[in-house]
Amino acid sequence: MAIYLDHAATTPLLPEVLEAYVAALSIVGNASSIHSHGQAAKRMLEEARERVAAALGGDPIEVVFTSGGTESVNAAVKGIYWARRSAGAGPRIVLPGGEHHATADAAAWLEAHQGASIEQLPLDDEGRLEPAALERALAAGDAALVSVLWANNEVGTLQPVTALAEAAAAAGAPIHADAVAAFGSVPVDFRASGLSALSVSAHKIGAPAGIGALVLARGTAAEPLVHGGGQQRGLRSGTQDVAGAVAFGVAASLAAERLAEHAAALAMLRDRLVEGVLAAVPGARLRGPAPGPERLPGNAHFTFEGCDGDSLLLLLDLAGISVSTGAACQAGVPELSAVLLAMGVPEHEARGALRFSLGAGTTEADVDALLRVLPAVVERAQRAGHSDRLPALR
Ligand SMILES: Cc1ncc(COP(=O)(O)O)c(C=O)c1O
Repeated sequence: MAIYLDHAATTPLLPEVLEAYVAALSIVGNASSIHSHGQAAKRMLEEARERVAAALGGDPIEVVFTSGGTESVNAAVKGIYWARRSAGAGPRIVLPGGEHHATADAAAWLEAHQGASIEQLPLDDEGRLEPAALERALAAGDAALVSVLWANNEVGTLQPVTALAEAAAAAGAPIHADAVAAFGSVPVDFRASGLSALSVSAHKIGAPAGIGALVLARGTAAEPLVHGGGQQRGLRSGTQDVAGAVAFGVAASLAAERLAEHAAALAMLRDRLVEGVLAAVPGARLRGPAPGPERLPGNAHFTFEGCDGDSLLLLLDLAGISVSTGAACQAGVPELSAVLLAMGVPEHEARGALRFSLGAGTTEADVDALLRVLPAVVERAQRAGHSDRLPALR
């Protein structure tokens, strides 16, 4: 039986979500049509919006459905940047190092094509952005916006989001958080956080890929990325995916209902995995915060001395276990983790990165199966040594 320890990449559909999704797929009607078919579709869509809003501590009117996390992040970073620039703000975009590509590349595009200047802030050795570092950066001059990861998808670090939002508010800068990795694993309360915008993605919480949401606070202006029929208050035109929204809504409600129990179960499995790996594999080093309240409960990320993460990944795959190196693969070419480098991990150590991410359905038996094969897999990969295939970071 294949074992899936890559829930940070995507999650299996929850049975309740699948059922609601399939039922909603057979509904006929465009949610923008005024006839009764359209209105029935619109009711389902708006109920889904209410569910997503409730699970995230936002108002339904603040929830804009998108095609997923990447689009939500782009809509936030570019949309807020454009609105702020039109309102006379300066061109600075303030980000910590090691942001997800959705944020880093959206900001880089604004820099390359629209005159933005990116100010990259350092992470500490556990992947955290200190609020004082953000305060200092914002005190140095006007910023168009700030963007941070609520939870780091590679090393599992939870950012002090509320303190970061306070620092941004004090400087009058809007702040967006990519909560794609956080939603469903830790409490995410948009209103209480003080954020201006938040991005989430359905396929990370047991719903299908292809839908996500941008939560945009009422007082935060954003120019739309997508123009057309003016749906969703003109912020994201296009016929809305009612079935996707229904599935996302059900998954969001379940995530909120099950959060405490789910997180506690994952943390126990994660601790078993971390202890087991550190005990059985010489040269294994846990990256990110120690297991505890500052780390995603389902995340365990290590570097293994003297070998390549992608060799480990392939050997584990042969053993029937799916994991990830954590860093993005750009068109199939592995790259060194920008997160580890931003945390000050030397390049030769960063090459041996491997992330195990646990989720609904992970069992003790899965963890134990991994622990049985991992020592031999690491030894074999160490004999092969480092390959020179990894290109330098872009
Ligand atoms: C932290 C983070 N942000 C954004 C994304 C992109 O989300 P999506 O796959 O829905 O486009 C991912 C997906 O891996 C992620 O982990």
